[in-house]
Amino acid sequence: MQIIHTVSELRHWSRQQRAAGKIIGLVPTLGALHAGHASLIRAAHKACDAVAVSIFVNPTQFGPNEDFSRYPRTFDADCKLAEAEGADVIFAPSVEEIYPNNATTFVEVAELSDRLDGASRPGHFRGVATVVSKLFIAAEPDRTYFGQKDAAQVAVLRRMTADLRLGVEIVVCPIIRDPDGLALSSRNIYLSAEERKQALSLSRAIRRVETLFTNGVSDTTVLIAAAEKLLQNEEKIRIDYIALVDWSTLLPVEIATPGTLLAIAAHVGATRLIDNTILH
Ligand code: PAF
Repeated sequence: MQIIHTVSELRHWSRQQRAAGKIIGLVPTLGALHAGHASLIRAAHKACDAVAVSIFVNPTQFGPNEDFSRYPRTFDADCKLAEAEGADVIFAPSVEEIYPNNATTFVEVAELSDRLDGASRPGHFRGVATVVSKLFIAAEPDRTYFGQKDAAQVAVLRRMTADLRLGVEIVVCPIIRDPDGLALSSRNIYLSAEERKQALSLSRAIRRVETLFTNGVSDTTVLIAAAEKLLQNEEKIRIDYIALVDWSTLLPVEIATPGTLLAIAAHVGATRLIDNTILH
């Protein structure tokens, strides 16, 4: 596995692969790789001939009071995991490489970027859309892999890819959970034992809504109230949002139908966690 640090090396690698007739897969990450990322790299390795994994803690998607400086950085372990799952290249650029001369060009997906996480984290999706478009431009992938856990991010990136006619296929992989139900996240390491226990109420709330929906309840006011009740029982949890929305517009729906996205964000102590499901 090759480790490269510059956009020109990544582009050179990608063009060599394409010239050899290979299908190129890209897995963009912030690093601190866990089994969720492993599943993305594995899926890319299975469906593509050449796989690049980017590891870049992107400063523009973190707000001023967020965890950019303390975000876990575990580069050596990340490289081992990526290699074991079949990555051919790690792209690990510096901030200057991605934002040369304090770059002033940004990509903004209007409206969608202000919904769900975008409403609570102003500027977050502008940072995501900007860095992902830079990665697409550099790696020129055929397919890219994202986790359903970041469902709002997926909606923003699908829209960006369609609007800019980037011609990249976005593959969305299922949420990977610990055996007790907690959705894997690099931020789970911030949780104390008690917070981790209380954090389980996010997946519990999701299961509760899924069960109600399966049993015929589709009024979203009732479904949201049921989820709220479970989360409000936990003293360390502060709900950011519980929403039932159309996955492509991220706008709330009154009546849930198969395909409706249930998304939850909550602060567990000082850590903000998200989880979701697509009702079926
Ligand atoms: O989902 C993430 O890890 C990040 O938002 C991404 C897509 C790698 C952009 O920095």
